[in-house]
Formats: sequence, C-alpha cells, structure tokens
Amino acid sequence: MKLVFATNNLNKLKEVQALVPDHIQLLSLVDIGCAEDIPETQPTIEGNAVQKAEYLVKNYGYNCFADDTGLEVEALNGEPGVYSARYAGPLRNSEDNMDKLLKNLKYEHNRNAQFKTVIALHLNGELETFTGICKGEITTEKHGKKGFGYDPIFKAEGYEKTFAEISFEEKNKIGHRGKAIQKLIGFLNI
Ligand code: IMP
Repeated sequence: MKLVFATNNLNKLKEVQALVPDHIQLLSLVDIGCAEDIPETQPTIEGNAVQKAEYLVKNYGYNCFADDTGLEVEALNGEPGVYSARYAGPLRNSEDNMDKLLKNLKYEHNRNAQFKTVIALHLNGELETFTGICKGEITTEKHGKKGFGYDPIFKAEGYEKTFAEISFEEKNKIGHRGKAIQKLIGFLNI
C-alpha cells in the first residue's frame, strides 16, 4: 500500500519509516512533487493534523497521513501547545524556542510537560485520528545533540537523560510520535 506522509521534516520521516512495516510504501512530500507550505492555521493540534491531511487529498489525491505535535507545559497552562513551532517567532527556530521556554520557566518549580502528537489519516475517503502522548518534564538547561526541536530540554518520565541524549530507537519506543504511529499501524493492519 502506498501512503504519503505529509512532512518535510527528515527527522520525523526517519522516525516513522523505522516503525512502518514493509508492505506500506511510505512516500514523502518530495516524492509526490509537493514543494509548497501546507497550511496549518487551526487553533488545535488535532485541527492542524486534519487540515494538512485534507489539503493533500484535495490537491494531490493520495491516501496520506499528517502529524502535528505540540509541547504542553503544565505551569504555562498547556503552552506552547499548538504554537510550539512558532513559540519564539515566525522563523520557527528551535534554539530560540527552547531559550524562550527556559526563560519563562526560570523561577518555576513545576516543570511537568508532555509532548502530544496527533496523526490524521485519510484513507479511501475516510478520516481517522490517532493520538500519542509522552509525559515528562522540562530540564533547566539544554542537554544532548540528538533529535530535533525541543528534545534537548525534555526528559521523559522515568528517564535521567533528555530526548537529545537517548538513542533514536529509545525515543521512538517511548515517544509521542512512536505511540501515535503504533496506533496507526494497528489500524492499517486490521
Ligand atoms: P510540528 O508538528 O512539526 O508542527 O512541530 C511543532 C513543534 O514541536 C516544532 O517546533 C518541532 O520542532 C517540535 N517538535 C515536534 N516533534 C518533536 C519531537 O519529537 N521532539 C522535540 N520537538 C518536537
């Protein structure tokens, strides 16, 4: 089965490619000649995932899935949440985003946070969504060079190391996107 994953993020592609079984042929946006920015203008993580998947079906006609992820920080009432990518401004710079978050939590003792991924699947005209959550906490400084985005300042529950310090396989096993992908795979295998 051919399925388009609506992302240009090579880290995400690698994470997802490692999890999907061989009978699913994953195509990227480059593979289908989609070079434009797909709109993500909804006020929720789920809304953005659905918007991206619907845009692809409407404009390219492929069965596809899209993901949207947000980092929800308890002491900030769930922020940056749906605005995680643009937290420090329109340039979507991860270093700036992390610096802003660390600054906003500087005097905060409650550092609980969670990553939430919603995957929206458009398959033969039907829409399904799958959610993956990874609970943890925000560190006081950046640690590690692996991964991407907020990984250097997020420690999953029960871990002493950040997502940027653990292996790719370990992050994929316990991480938000991995959990959502496992649900998607379970659905596709029915
Ligand atoms: P989006 O899902 O690509 O829109 O991601 C929203 C924001 O969350 C971006 O700033 C990403 O860098 C960040 N992000 C998404 N997934 C992860 C992850 O697995 N680890 C760390 N940051 C992430």
